[in-house]
Parts: sequence; structure tokens; C-alpha cells
Amino acid sequence: MSPFDFWNSFSLKGLGLNIMQALGRSKTKGKVPIYNEDEREGLRTAGRFNSQLMDFIRPHVQPGITTIELDRLVYEYTLDHGHTPACLGYKKYPNSICTSVNEIVCHGIPNRIPLHNGDIVNVDLTTIVNGWHGDSSETFLIGNVAEEARKLVQTAFDAMHVGIDAIQTYGKLTEIGRSIERFARVRGYSVVQEYQGHGLGRQFHQEPGVPHYVPKSNASNLVLEPGMCFTVEPMINAGTWRTMLDNRDKWTVRTIDLALSAQFEHTVLVTESGPEVLTFTQNGPLPGHKF
Ligand code: MF3
Ligand code: CO
Ligand code: CO
Repeated sequence: MSPFDFWNSFSLKGLGLNIMQALGRSKTKGKVPIYNEDEREGLRTAGRFNSQLMDFIRPHVQPGITTIELDRLVYEYTLDHGHTPACLGYKKYPNSICTSVNEIVCHGIPNRIPLHNGDIVNVDLTTIVNGWHGDSSETFLIGNVAEEARKLVQTAFDAMHVGIDAIQTYGKLTEIGRSIERFARVRGYSVVQEYQGHGLGRQFHQEPGVPHYVPKSNASNLVLEPGMCFTVEPMINAGTWRTMLDNRDKWTVRTIDLALSAQFEHTVLVTESGPEVLTFTQNGPLPGHKF
């Protein structure tokens, strides 16, 4: 027990509060929040709504629809259910969702261009429910796509699950990136380094950062403890891992070689009995799915 945990374990007798809660603060390990059972229920509810939203939007992601129409549908569904789109206004982001088509790696801004037969598009949803965030994304095949695009999407999906499967309670955070990088390399793809998974809770992006590769230096030695919550969201590229930021909108991230990129994302809670995926959907792809 660290001195921190020692003080944290004092109960204010009769009040049923520990000292950190009495001070209005959550427990942390370094800068990483450790959520108690009440807080975990908040995260589960947010993850569940985000999944419901994904199930709602999935049938609309078809040739001919524009990404701004998808954005509108998500915005209205979220507000109709009394919740908040986390992206809208976040660091001045202009929309409720990110839609990343073909060579766009992430943070694509919805626009008036219809989705076209053969495109691949990642739809990334984040919702705030009673103050808690849920964050997940899927890449969709629009109509009939080239075999190379299908294979890339399959690898991005499988890579996310390889990363989730590498999570062990009291294991190391770095095993996630190690397993994803090895898996992608064997299939002949590269892993984006500039954008990572992230801790999730009352804030959209918080500690810990979750690299999907093995950093050459400054690798975190974080041990995963019950109550930690973060995303696993590898971006897998057909060509080089290097990316460039659009210098007009300052959001859109593209592969530097304009080769295809695909991504899936889940929010994961570490529990006493292993990882718990908070954003599994009813109708979407489950582990083992073949695209
Ligand atoms: N949902 C993205 C993620 O997975 C972040 C989008 S931030 C935004 O972390 F501002 F672009 F919406
Ligand atoms: Co995320
Ligand atoms: Co996301």
C-alpha cells in the first residue's frame, strides 16, 4: 500500500465516505483515475447508450448518404434521448461525429459529399450521459469494396480485439500496443503512432494514453488496475504509418501517402475479473466477425 492508498483508505466513520470522496476527489493511481462501483455504473450506462447510437446509425451508412446527414441523425437521436454529443464544440470541433473516409485516418469532418460505392468510412461516436463519456467507432464498407480495402478493415477490427485481449488485470498497459503492432505487421500493415487510445471518464481525453505500438522511448510502465477505463482504437494503414494534418481545417488527419486507413474503437473498463468492453452493440460485428 502506497502512502496515498493509506490515507485514501481512512473512512469517515458513520458517513460511509472515504477521505478522497469527502474532499470531492476520485481515487487515482498517479494521474489515472480508479473508478469505484458507482462510477463504473456511470461509465457502463454511457457505453451502453453509445452502442445503442451505433446500432441506430449503422443501417443509414449506405451509398448515397452524405456524412453531414449522418451527423444530423446522430445529433438528433442523442438530444432526443436527453444526452450530449461530446465532439460538438470540443476544442472547437464543428460537428457531433467524426467521419473518416478512405485515406482519412481520423477526425474527418462531416461534409456534403455522398458516400460512394467502394468507399470505406469510419464513424466515430462519443456521447456524454449523466456526465460520463462513452466512445466507440466502426469502419463500414460502402457497397462493394475492393478486396484490399476489405482486408484492411478486417485487420483493423481484428487488431482492436487483439489489443483488448492483451488487457490483463495487473498486467502492463504496453502489452496492448505490443500485441497490436505485431499483429498488424504480420498482415503487412502499419500502425498509426501520432494518435492513441485514451483514458475516458468525466473527461473525453485523460490519462492514460494508450499507444497502439511500442514506443521507442518514454514507454509507460503503467500496471492496469481494476477501475481504470480507456479506449482501444488502433488506426491501421495500408501504406506508411505516417500521417499529415489538414492545414486548412486543422482537424482532418490523412495518411501521408494517401493510402487507405481503417479503425475500430471500444471503451474498456478494467475489472477484478479482466477487461469489460462497455461499447459492444446489439447488431454490430463481434469478435471473430468476417467482413
Ligand atoms: N472520438 C475521437 C476519439 O476516439 C475523438 C474525436 S475528438 C473531435 O478519441 F473533436 F474530433 F471530435
Ligand atoms: Co477515443
Ligand atoms: Co472515438
